[in-house]
Amino acid sequence: MAKVNGTTKVEYDPNFTNAVINATGPKADDRMREVMTALIRHVHDFAREVNLTTDEYMAGVSLLNWAGQMSTDRRNEGQLVTDVIGLESLVDEITYKQAAASSSSVTPSAILGPFWRHDAPTRKNGESTVLKVPDDAKVSYMYGRLTDAVSGEPLANALVDVWQASTNGLYEQQDEDQPDCNLRGKFYTDDEGNYGFYCLRPTEYPIPSDGPAGKLLDLLDRHHYRPGHIHLIIMKDGYKSITTQIFDRETPYLDNDSVFAVKDGLTVDFTERKDDSKAMWELKYDIAMAPMGSDGAGNVPMATSGAS
Ligand code: BEZ
Ligand code: FE
Repeated sequence: MAKVNGTTKVEYDPNFTNAVINATGPKADDRMREVMTALIRHVHDFAREVNLTTDEYMAGVSLLNWAGQMSTDRRNEGQLVTDVIGLESLVDEITYKQAAASSSSVTPSAILGPFWRHDAPTRKNGESTVLKVPDDAKVSYMYGRLTDAVSGEPLANALVDVWQASTNGLYEQQDEDQPDCNLRGKFYTDDEGNYGFYCLRPTEYPIPSDGPAGKLLDLLDRHHYRPGHIHLIIMKDGYKSITTQIFDRETPYLDNDSVFAVKDGLTVDFTERKDDSKAMWELKYDIAMAPMGSDGAGNVPMATSGAS
């Protein structure tokens, strides 16, 4: 132990971290070695920096275990925990910077979140995702055109996969009063690259508070809310997939989203819709996709670990 300014400073074994890193064997994959070397170094530095106690370490392990125990094929609590510390948003930013290298007009991405389902039904353009209309719903028509971000050419037969929460703040898989696959659906663009469907003007909602993510927010004296948004995944052969969210410019929490997903270029303006008995509001949202290979990078990977 050394004395610094009269206080005792504990010195830890200077060789320990390298010994752990060097335990990696020669057959380990190169990327695995790169990622794990940095992770071990940062985690060890973190533990030393805060003088992590055994009790605190065990509390962290319990939180991870709790996240695992709460996760199902419809709820991804582990992802939620990473969301409240901004990790998914940071990874999204890293991924987007690569995807957008070919053109600055590529539609910005945003995090997937834990409520995507792989098995949403395909619906026809012009159909509704709103299978049960809540009393306080602002039914809206969302439509737009998909184009190549470099050439501007329309993209036909591209997938637009959409999902959103209802006005009670719950996704259909969280709420037994909503029909299966309410407020979600897969649409395909027509020959001119157009898509369109009925949805709800989105409303703010709290992320689930009954698990470790909610507990962490409480311990950090933070609110649980997300601004009103609609989720989208857009896919087309030969183009980088886009996972994104669009945010109503008039929603609260745009400046302090509990999962840090709001970005410039993702806020949108709903306007009054005329002559449509099914919707009072509309949103025109055009989407531009980056051609694959335009910057030498691969496709933006679709999440494989989200709720399915
Ligand atoms: C969501 O938008 O669905 C979401 C994203 C991150 C954490 C919780 C919910
Ligand atoms: Fe959401």
